[in-house]
Amino acid sequence: MTTTELLDQLRANLGDDGVLTEPGDVAPYVADWTGALVGATTAVVRPANTDGVAAAVRLCGEAGVAVVPQGGNTGLVGGAVPDASGTQVVLSLGRMRRIRYVDPVADTITVEAGAVLHAVQAAATAAGRLFPLSLGSEGSCTIGGNISTNAGGTAVLRYGMMRDLVLGLEVVLPDGQVWEGLRPLRKDNTGYDLKQLFIGAEGTLGVVTAAVLRLLPATPRRATALVALPSVDSAVRLLPVLRERAGGRLTAWELLNRQTLELVVAHVPGARDPFRTPHNWYGLVELAGSADDELDTLLESALGAAVAADLVLEAVVASGPTQRRSLWALREGISEVQKVEGASIKHDVTLPIAALPKFVAQMAPRLDSVLPGLRLVTYGHVGDGNLHYNLSAPVSDDAALHAAAPELTRSVYDAVTGAGGSISAEHGIGVLKRDAAAALKSEVENELMRAVKRALDPRGLMNPGKVVPPDSASLLVTD
Ligand code: FAD
Ligand code: MLT
Ligand code: ZN
Repeated sequence: MTTTELLDQLRANLGDDGVLTEPGDVAPYVADWTGALVGATTAVVRPANTDGVAAAVRLCGEAGVAVVPQGGNTGLVGGAVPDASGTQVVLSLGRMRRIRYVDPVADTITVEAGAVLHAVQAAATAAGRLFPLSLGSEGSCTIGGNISTNAGGTAVLRYGMMRDLVLGLEVVLPDGQVWEGLRPLRKDNTGYDLKQLFIGAEGTLGVVTAAVLRLLPATPRRATALVALPSVDSAVRLLPVLRERAGGRLTAWELLNRQTLELVVAHVPGARDPFRTPHNWYGLVELAGSADDELDTLLESALGAAVAADLVLEAVVASGPTQRRSLWALREGISEVQKVEGASIKHDVTLPIAALPKFVAQMAPRLDSVLPGLRLVTYGHVGDGNLHYNLSAPVSDDAALHAAAPELTRSVYDAVTGAGGSISAEHGIGVLKRDAAAALKSEVENELMRAVKRALDPRGLMNPGKVVPPDSASLLVTD
């Protein structure tokens, strides 16, 4: 089938507005959120339903054309954008946004893959329930993308990752067949748990078209505080104190360094440092509970104990929803401000939580000796052992960061793996971390991944070049 024939067939199945080819129309789909990766595409297809997805995948297969699934395109590892060849088709789930069904008895919500996370949270709230996944990108990222990246975010400490919130999936397989796994069952031991294969597969094994998700009890009450910390060690030691005092109500325990706070205060309109004097580290803690939970009292008494134990220097407890939002804006504005501050490298790493203080202490001088003036924008989900150990270029010197990037990243990855950690906590592998991840895994593990890929996608047409270790790689850590 020629490209023209393929486009004709796609239009016949999806309608003219389901197939975009004009450069201005496809531009937003071929560049990633950071703007650093820009590919090219034959067409962007936008099916309106599962049959349309199946038809598009089948037709691309007949033409031998690769398919790149895309949700909100907020991914941070280049998984959702096509390569530069111009031969791949982007399959956007953007028109499949329906919330199909809320089941108050089974406590589930069934949604199409293109539903935006914030809309799913809102639908759960409207039904008096909670869908707890919470990310800075929740106004644009989609459930299909959250499933495909096994997204994390700020409430993992309490509710787990996306994997823990999925009960059933509907998936279009690489040959165009539909796997109807849209089951709401909490218990189902009938063989391999197939849905788990697609969760975190970043679109390399099929296209997720719908999902059944778990709902949880609503948490209308919140108590939130920003605390000044003497060290990362105090952040780690505070976790069991908070857990002991607040139990299951502890929902978020986030960390940021002074450099990060300064960037946010400099660039986010209205943001300000709530403390009179600067501190090296800050923690953002949130408890959430039901209407009759006395969360402020609980939080204040936990923080009092922490101050007495010298784990906290000072604290600001939000006096209401407005102040709560302004404290969260200090945390949620970070990704955007790093973009405007020039070039940066993202390291989304996870370590055994007790290893974080040593990691942070040893990295700072090591990296500064590679690139003096480098800015360490360190923050993240400390309660999960997950740091966004991001590096921003020295002021007005992006070129220096680009030149030093391989050595900086190698240094970070060596320390992470040496401490028994992982180089991708929650963002995934995509194209940016594929070779680095493969180099750090055993050949047994790499070959298992290739075997799964071959079994489901023998022609290698589903999001090629992403995630799966290449067959004969010279696997060097280079990104
Ligand atoms: P996309 O970017 O469109 O795609 C991501 C991957 O999934 C790609 O490989 C794509 O091919 C595949 N894919 C998408 N939809 C489908 C589908 N229906 N079927 C099969 N494959 C599919 N991530 C976190 O985990 N935690 C955070 O705290 C967090 N914060 C963020 C904050 C900001 C400001 C930004 C920009 C990003 C953040 N992210 C975070 C990263 C990103 O938002 C998540 O990875 C999110 O889950 C991606 O969803 P998406 O719909 O944008 O997916
Ligand atoms: C976050 O938690 O804010 C994002 O996952 C981190 C990032 O943008 O690097
Ligand atoms: Zn994060």
